[in-house]
Amino acid sequence: MLSRRHGFRLASVVLLALCALPVMPVSSETLRGDGDGEAGQIVLSPEERALALEYSPLPELPSSPTNAVADNAAAARLGQALFFDTRLSEPGTVSCASCHVPELSWSDGKSLAQGVSETTRHAMTLWNVGYNRWFFWDGRKDSLWAQALTPFEDPREHGFSRLEVLHVLHGDPELVSAYESLFGPLPALADRSRFPAEGRPVPEEPGHRHALAWDSMTAEDQQAADAAYVNLGKCIEAFERQIVSRHAPFDTFVEGLRSGDPEQLAALSPSAQRGFGLFVGKGKCFLCHDGPNFTDREFHSNRVPVTNLLDGGRAVGIQELKTDPFNGASVHADDGGKVARTKLSIAPKSLHYPGEFKTPTLRNVAATAPYMHEGQMATLEEVIAFYSTLETALPPDPTGERFLQPRQFSEQEVADLLAFLESLTDEALPPELLQAPGSLGGAASER
Ligand code: HEC
Ligand code: HEC
Repeated sequence: MLSRRHGFRLASVVLLALCALPVMPVSSETLRGDGDGEAGQIVLSPEERALALEYSPLPELPSSPTNAVADNAAAARLGQALFFDTRLSEPGTVSCASCHVPELSWSDGKSLAQGVSETTRHAMTLWNVGYNRWFFWDGRKDSLWAQALTPFEDPREHGFSRLEVLHVLHGDPELVSAYESLFGPLPALADRSRFPAEGRPVPEEPGHRHALAWDSMTAEDQQAADAAYVNLGKCIEAFERQIVSRHAPFDTFVEGLRSGDPEQLAALSPSAQRGFGLFVGKGKCFLCHDGPNFTDREFHSNRVPVTNLLDGGRAVGIQELKTDPFNGASVHADDGGKVARTKLSIAPKSLHYPGEFKTPTLRNVAATAPYMHEGQMATLEEVIAFYSTLETALPPDPTGERFLQPRQFSEQEVADLLAFLESLTDEALPPELLQAPGSLGGAASER
């Protein structure tokens, strides 16, 4: 797979060289010195220029075939209400936004996320999450809607159960109206003999009070509860799909490469341009952080030191995904499971070793410290120093991939890489997406 991509790259580089695309001359009046070469000046080689065009713009959001309301505005509004709703947690204080804080670039600034109690992983940013193929650091979910059902029931996160979530919804006329205009009537939640106050399947602890309550329900009512719960996840996905970052200075610069507009070209300092050159050249970062979202959407070991040695990463995630009752091949997929079955059938073909985690996007990375799946690294400088020497790296898996090598960056190269990573920042979103929606009234009638 990798060599095929290289083939494409090589082909496009050769093509470019043959066409010898003229680069617009930049008039000297527009140049601003930044103490490190001239701003507005292109310092990339023709090969690097050709590569830059492959990293921007970010394409349109891929469709989400398993979710019929993925792009429905009313569903997104309901999803947004749920995302910010602290009532959907055991202590009444935790919402999705507690760990995915809009002002902290949809992460939380902590190493390990903290809900009802401390978790064992770092809260992932939600920037461009709609572009991902697998979800969580270990990819144990194959859709955003299925992902959204997990935190509510994680005892360390919301500490809630699906029946409690449904009862909170049921107790709020505005939410009920928004829900029912999208999906039709809710199950008969008022009947507590059929739908107990709390309950969820807890296979790992059959004696848990949530499990006992769940097991007291008929299979039909369990299915009805699951279907309604899934619909809430689908609304949350519709909201999350709007968290898109695509207009960073790097993108402006690449637009400039296409248009020749010197003002656009000035968006990237020569240092940041050299950083991009390192990213796709000597640094070999692109081997994993590939494409306009700066991730290949797959799993690798970058050998960062870990505290939790028991965390199997992707090797465990793929097994969990295959048996997940909410995976895309399940009855809950709106496309009859077509896409997910294909995805699931492809996934296990590649071998996955313990210690592989999902390659994160690098868009807005300067705003999402700390870094890595345990938040092990506090700064981007620390990350670059790590990749430079691999001094603190875990030993390589003898049977694993060999993408990672110490690159021995000079001081100047470290500064250049940093300037490039910082040029991927665009946190602009409509302010109304950064908080609970004012009212759902419009949402229900819009459809
Ligand atoms: C206690 C903090 C916490 C809360 C509350 C929380 N999350 Fe997360 N979120 C995390 C952590 C930690 C991860 C990574 C967990 C893992 O890999 O196992 C994560 C991962 C995710 C991802 C995966 C992103 C990706 O690229 O794979 C999404 C999406 C997400 N959360 C959305 C939500 C939604 C929606 C809610 C509310 C229903 C929520 N989170 C509640 C901490 C939290
Ligand atoms: C072998 C694949 C691979 C290569 C090569 C690679 N990375 Fe990564 N990178 C990853 C993975 C996987 C993670 C997440 C690892 C984890 O959390 O355990 C990551 C994490 C990061 C992070 C932290 C992002 C976050 O949100 O936590 C940054 C920054 C980063 N890489 C930059 C780079 C740079 C710069 C280079 C080139 C010098 C590079 N990477 C090379 C796979 C790679």
